[in-house]
Amino acid sequence: MAVTILAIESSCDDTSVAVLRDGCVLSNLIANQEIHMSYGGVVPELASRAHQANIVPVTHQAVVRAGIKNEDIDAVAFTRGPGLLGSLLVGTSFAKGFALALNIPLIEVNHLQAHVLAHFILEKDKNNRIPSFPFLCLLVSGGHTRIIVMKSHLEMEVIGNTIDDAAGEAFDKCGKVMGFTYPAGPLIDKLAKEGNRNAFKFAKPSVKGLDFSFSGLKTSFLYFLRDRLKEDPDFVEKNKADLCASLQHIIVSILINKMVKASALTGIREIGIAGGVSANSGLREAMREEAVRRNWNLFIPEFRYTTDNAAMIGITGYYKYLRGEFCTHDVAPLARY
Ligand code: KG4
Ligand code: ZN
Repeated sequence: MAVTILAIESSCDDTSVAVLRDGCVLSNLIANQEIHMSYGGVVPELASRAHQANIVPVTHQAVVRAGIKNEDIDAVAFTRGPGLLGSLLVGTSFAKGFALALNIPLIEVNHLQAHVLAHFILEKDKNNRIPSFPFLCLLVSGGHTRIIVMKSHLEMEVIGNTIDDAAGEAFDKCGKVMGFTYPAGPLIDKLAKEGNRNAFKFAKPSVKGLDFSFSGLKTSFLYFLRDRLKEDPDFVEKNKADLCASLQHIIVSILINKMVKASALTGIREIGIAGGVSANSGLREAMREEAVRRNWNLFIPEFRYTTDNAAMIGITGYYKYLRGEFCTHDVAPLARY
């Protein structure tokens, strides 16, 4: 019998609800919160209030667009963490209420595991290519930068991690220094396309093994701009594209170097990228080039499944459903998971 999952994602600033049947997306809706742009980052209190306003209409739309009735849903999956506690509380409470009303099981999902499992989302009438195991995945988001070995759908091992900032934070914080609104990643990506990636050089970290560090780069970028702006107040405006291209180039090369190392160490050539920063065109391009050079079987998710979305929560919920991994209603959200 087919398994229909309603999935809810509310870990940060986007309210997303999806319906999946046997791992195939029937609907995946996202309500973005533009309110945070002018603050230079997500304001937790505003985020949870917006989730409260959005969650009922977004869920209603997700069910309608999936062409199903509430009674067709077999289980409710929701993001338990990591994320902003107030935001997670809204999704968790709503998921509990929904599951209770329909008397169906509740499934808690780790947001980071879901980003990686986004590679297993199926779409109707598409040539769905999915990785086989073991699968080596670079998870790069606003809060995390990790290299993960996936041994099965629900078995993962972290073999590399950032010791300070995440790659997404490097994009966002350097963007903030240039006066860009939050999140700066997409704009840097866009401007980088018109710039020279060798125009400026920034300090490259030397971190042992498969770990990452991005805080030194952020500081070196900040000091570099501070000095140049003293000489010319219009420096950023005049050099925007070159600054973005050079910054993106160094972030991408740090990420790629570690993935090459991880593949060599583990012997895994089944490779993928996931998380918000995997939407970056420079990273996608560099991964494709490396895949050709090193004979990798490469997996790059569709843009809509790279940044936060409920379809990835739904696919994780589906695999947990198949294993009977349900949770009780006293489950609490976790800011750190
Ligand atoms: O996975 P995600 O949506 O949320 C977290 O779980 O953190 O990732 C958000 C991050 C932000 O830092 C944002 O700037 C970055 O992903 N991002 C990008 C791009 N699109 C989103 N960074 C670089 N290039 C992009 N095209
Ligand atoms: Zn995320």
